[in-house]
Amino acid sequence: MMRFAMELLSLPFLLLLALSFFSRPTVTIARGGGHMDCTHGVFARHLFEESQPRISEAMTHEYMSNSELEKAMKEFTQRCANISRIYSIGKSVKGIPLWVVEISDKPGQEEAEPAFKFIGNVHGDEPVGRELLISLANWLCDNYRKDPLATLIVNNVHLHVLPTMNPDGFALRRRGNANNVDLNRDFPDQFYPMNDIVSLRQPETRAIMNWIKERHFTASASLHGGALVANYPWDGSQDTRKQYVACPDDKTFRSMARLYSRSHYNMSLSKEFEGGITNGALWYPIYGGMQDWNYIHGGCFELTLEISDDKWPKANELPVIWEYNRMSMLNLVASLVKTGVHGRIFSSDKGRPLPASVVIQGIDIRVNASRTYGDYHRMLAPGERYEVTASMPGFQSKTTHILLEDEAMNLDFILSPEDSSKHEEVRNECDCTCDGKDKLEVVEFLRGINLGIYLLLSVMFLIFCCLLRRKTMFKFLNRRQFNGYKRSIVV
Ligand SMILES: *[C@@H]1O[C@H](CO)[C@@H](O)[C@H](O)[C@H]1NC(C)=O
Ligand SMILES: *[C@@H]1O[C@H](CO)[C@@H](O)[C@H](O)[C@H]1NC(C)=O
Ligand SMILES: *[C@@H]1O[C@H](CO)[C@@H](O)[C@H](O)[C@H]1NC(C)=O
Ligand SMILES: [Zn+2]
Repeated sequence: MMRFAMELLSLPFLLLLALSFFSRPTVTIARGGGHMDCTHGVFARHLFEESQPRISEAMTHEYMSNSELEKAMKEFTQRCANISRIYSIGKSVKGIPLWVVEISDKPGQEEAEPAFKFIGNVHGDEPVGRELLISLANWLCDNYRKDPLATLIVNNVHLHVLPTMNPDGFALRRRGNANNVDLNRDFPDQFYPMNDIVSLRQPETRAIMNWIKERHFTASASLHGGALVANYPWDGSQDTRKQYVACPDDKTFRSMARLYSRSHYNMSLSKEFEGGITNGALWYPIYGGMQDWNYIHGGCFELTLEISDDKWPKANELPVIWEYNRMSMLNLVASLVKTGVHGRIFSSDKGRPLPASVVIQGIDIRVNASRTYGDYHRMLAPGERYEVTASMPGFQSKTTHILLEDEAMNLDFILSPEDSSKHEEVRNECDCTCDGKDKLEVVEFLRGINLGIYLLLSVMFLIFCCLLRRKTMFKFLNRRQFNGYKRSIVV
């Protein structure tokens, strides 16, 4: 009876409480720095007005050899020691380490931040990417704390750069690796499971697969040559015919590819590809590609970027190609902070972070939160409404509706354990859900109750509920680690 009374009393006041709580503006706040005029392609074709092109000595000479590349990477991590580190993800067939430079204000440390990877030189005879990635690293280091975009990326993203995935192919001046296998046909494939035996994959392929499994990459891009276009999944089609094969996140991929194309000097002017972007299977289907594998098995949104018509242009053209691609590369990485839905997922009992899954209604792909911080980062096309569900075995799922605008949105979830009766009670008292039967009982009960007592108890209950809610909110909001948010949504 006592609990019944509590439920009745709480009814109107929970409405009030809910109103006061949700009438706080449910805002979407952009993450990161204040320099917001550099969004989405506004500056295509204004590259040279922005800053002086940086033409390094090495670029005007020749392409770096594999050992020169390794030296350049190690020198970079010495010169920019406090925002970078170098590590290897494995070795090529011929035993050359696959070096990665990580760029971040806390390199090598886990943070509640998105991660991006760039992979160059997948095909040995397409070396432009490996040069551009060294330029990118140096540009970020030189402009950190000077340029808002550089600062935003270093402070809010963990950027991993693998200039060459195929050093053996580069040394041999050919497409395949030392076993003459095309590495962008060597990944397990959704349509043709010919590559599914992992132990038979090339060492370079296996290194990438393990890397993706170990880390939560939010998005990535591989750099190729021979065309000028931003290519997005799917790469293959079921019946091997050339046709548009949309992946579940087609809209989001198109907006990412468009961002790259429009920020580029002239990619979007392409006569061959409308807007300078293409669906992979529509261009020509391939099987065993890296892009689709990333999306399916890593929840990582990968683009395949063809960055110069000429696969192996003269080295003295590299500085210009870098300038053409610079804003595209920076904007793509920065889009991990400036767009999409981000947040952390906690357990309601001890407030511990949960590695829960985030799913968008109608899109059959999971993006998982990290184990350490429970942070997730979900790329999503802007200007749409979405139904977002966070779920975790042993916890009750939570679903909410959002309107994602052009800026990033923060959306945290607090999940209750499934089988905790203690929490069941707290929730019953504090939730304002009730069905028709409850309402009838309310009316009957009200007949027999003195209005004064009712009001008094109700006010007490309201205060109690407010305090409880405040305390919980305070606890959770206090744990936030993201920069740049003034307010955020918690469900
Ligand atoms: C990097 O080093 C410079 C010079 O010592 C210092 O001013 C700066 O705060 C450091 N940056 C970071 C992210 O630690
Ligand atoms: C882009 O510019 C380069 C260099 O001027 C040129 O070679 C290429 O044909 C242009 N591509 C398009 C699509 O305009
Ligand atoms: C996400 O987590 C689920 C459940 O633990 C797991 O099955 C799935 O493989 C994970 N997905 C990714 C992309 O890591
Ligand atoms: Zn290629």
